Amino acid sequence: MKWPSHGANPHFLYEAMNLPVPKEKLDFSANINPLGPPPVLKENWGKLLEAVTEYPDPHGTILKRKIAEREGLQESNVLLGNGAAEVISLIGRMLAGNQAVIVQPAFSEYEEACRVSGCQVQYHQIPDTWAWMDDDLDAKLKKADALFLCNPSNPTGAYYSKSIILHLLEKCRSQQCLLIVDEAFYDFLADYESISQCINEYPNLLIIRSMTKMFAIPGLRLGYLLADPAVIRKIAAFQPHWSTNGIALKAGELCLESESYIKETITLIEQERQRLFLFYQSREMLVSPSRINFYLLKDPTLSNQYSFLQYLLNRGIIARHTVNFPGLEGEWLRFAIKGPGDNDKLMEAVDGWLDSRL
Ligand SMILES: Cc1ncc(COP(=O)(O)O)c(C=O)c1O
Repeated sequence: MKWPSHGANPHFLYEAMNLPVPKEKLDFSANINPLGPPPVLKENWGKLLEAVTEYPDPHGTILKRKIAEREGLQESNVLLGNGAAEVISLIGRMLAGNQAVIVQPAFSEYEEACRVSGCQVQYHQIPDTWAWMDDDLDAKLKKADALFLCNPSNPTGAYYSKSIILHLLEKCRSQQCLLIVDEAFYDFLADYESISQCINEYPNLLIIRSMTKMFAIPGLRLGYLLADPAVIRKIAAFQPHWSTNGIALKAGELCLESESYIKETITLIEQERQRLFLFYQSREMLVSPSRINFYLLKDPTLSNQYSFLQYLLNRGIIARHTVNFPGLEGEWLRFAIKGPGDNDKLMEAVDGWLDSRL
């Protein structure tokens, strides 16, 4: 069976599992803000049409300036991308023929981007308490040119503190190795500690950001890279002209004005996460120590979660399988945290599953 490599686009999962697609579906496999795009985007949507008839600024200067200001960095520290996915792909091209270590389990695109450009990959596997462990990392870094870390982690939702990042930056610097931190979900953290300023001291630090999750605009494609200007120039050389479209650039500027919407989202997600985790605890289901808008879930009576996944899919509840996450191999399912009504439906379906096992 060929499992889809990502969440979202649920028809691929139904097709792979040879199941009919129900009329009503709830997709928990994509980790998008349940509040939808910020109000300011909806209010100005009509005006964004003007951007369609013009070529976009190939450097996205205005948006770049706004991002740099927010981070206390220079415009030369920012590269915009057609989603964080493009940034990852460009980093892969820069690493062509090199060696990379990926902290696993992690978003699969790092490995894809490395392998396609002939970059050799090793894993640094985190055990399933998901607490940070150096283990034999030093030995691996000796031969490596780059270390990839997803923080907060997709798929677990665990967050590694700034002190751990500083510890890794020192290690990587002493081995002349890049540290690439994917912060696609940083803005869902209530207590995020920014590492942007570390770029001034550590030119080996690359920070990947996505704007598609918090601002619920995965269809628009918008992300960026924060790094030392020399690294930015190197990576930008691989990027096609006009890579970030004009609507995304303008939408990005509006999204950055949405501070209260971010706070509202964090509050909602925290409340819902607490409610869901209490429910799972009362049903003796296991969850990962997530601090953000998704989590791993396991029925501990099963070794792989295939029958649970199938049960949910038949009821139109779509979870993300974990078959292609090294170290998870299908032993967990990943769920986005949605709004209260949708989460209620998920909990009802989980109770239905538990009853069906009796
Ligand atoms: C950890 C992580 N990084 C990057 C991306 C890509 O995000 P974007 O939609 O900005 O391309 C994703 C998408 O799921 C992700 O989970």
